[in-house]
Amino acid sequence: MSKSTLAIIAAVSAATGAGVTAAMYSTRSEKKIQAVASSTSVSATSSTSVPAPIPIPGAIPPLPTVAPVDPAGLFQYGFPGPVADLATRNSLVSSFDRRLRNPSWVAEHITPASLALSNGDRKHSYFAEDASVPEKFRGKLKDYFRSGYDRGHQVPAADAKWSQEAMNDTFYLSNMCPQVGEGFNRDYWAHFEDFCRRLTQRYPSVRIVTGPLYLPKRGADGKWKVSYEVIGNPPNIAVPTHFYKVIFGEDGTATGPVALGAFVLPNAVIPNEKPITDFEVPVEAVERASGLDFASKLPVGRRKRLCADTVCALVIKEYADRQKTFAKEQKAVQAPTRTSPRNGAANL
Ligand SMILES: *[C@@H]1O[C@H](CO)[C@@H](O)[C@H](O)[C@H]1NC(C)=O
Repeated sequence: MSKSTLAIIAAVSAATGAGVTAAMYSTRSEKKIQAVASSTSVSATSSTSVPAPIPIPGAIPPLPTVAPVDPAGLFQYGFPGPVADLATRNSLVSSFDRRLRNPSWVAEHITPASLALSNGDRKHSYFAEDASVPEKFRGKLKDYFRSGYDRGHQVPAADAKWSQEAMNDTFYLSNMCPQVGEGFNRDYWAHFEDFCRRLTQRYPSVRIVTGPLYLPKRGADGKWKVSYEVIGNPPNIAVPTHFYKVIFGEDGTATGPVALGAFVLPNAVIPNEKPITDFEVPVEAVERASGLDFASKLPVGRRKRLCADTVCALVIKEYADRQKTFAKEQKAVQAPTRTSPRNGAANL
């Protein structure tokens, strides 16, 4: 499935806006995910361990010699990485990607009880740089300034109304990615987040992992290439081509069935009429595209397909107030009227 699914996902990026997304889920792919899931093994390898040489059958074992070189001696000067900056906060756990200056993933947990509380208000929260990420790798407020992209929450502020502090925790830039504002972050994506909250009417416990993707797109020459804008001065924060959510609907028991759903949406204007099921993909497709593992410890026997277990549909509400809030909040990032091309040499 790898090839075809990734090609389909990539086709999402090839589409202008949300144009094309084929039916990404099929019985065939479901079977294959299960096959992959059952062969998944967990291995913990420390970054400095040396793998044992692979024995060649029938070969004469080499005489023990003292290696004339010591590649790992580099580490006396420091381990190069990559290092994922892991942050555990009230409302989320996030893993930051220093190279792209976006999170790799942000995990949250919502329940009917957590959403029923209303102790936090976003008007008391402010976007903040994350001091737990080293300064040279950190996303900066000035990087978003006049970039034309919203500072798009990965864990939505509205999922953390249970406390002001929890809501504040969603405003770190390590929980943000540059997102297209109108037509996406303030619209379709917001309705999608709302759909996730409504899942708590069906499941007493819902876990959501959200993050960016940088997917290849087929060029006129037939070659697949990844292309993304980079914002900031110097340019350093990548603008993702897509975003994913992997959703776990739990029944409130530790061993019960888990409704698993995965969605990949382009970072682009999406018409409200577009069914969310157009963006449903096998979890495994998100794993391959992101290099992440989301459910390696969830046995196949406990998995159900979310959109077979519940209705996956957005409710499009009038979001006039939300629009107002967003417009105010995101004022700083709104693009100035351009007189020169966006990627002028001045950025370098
Ligand atoms: C939330 O953030 C605001 C702005 O930084 C701050 O004034 C407020 O004290 C914070 N609230 C909590 C509970 O941390």
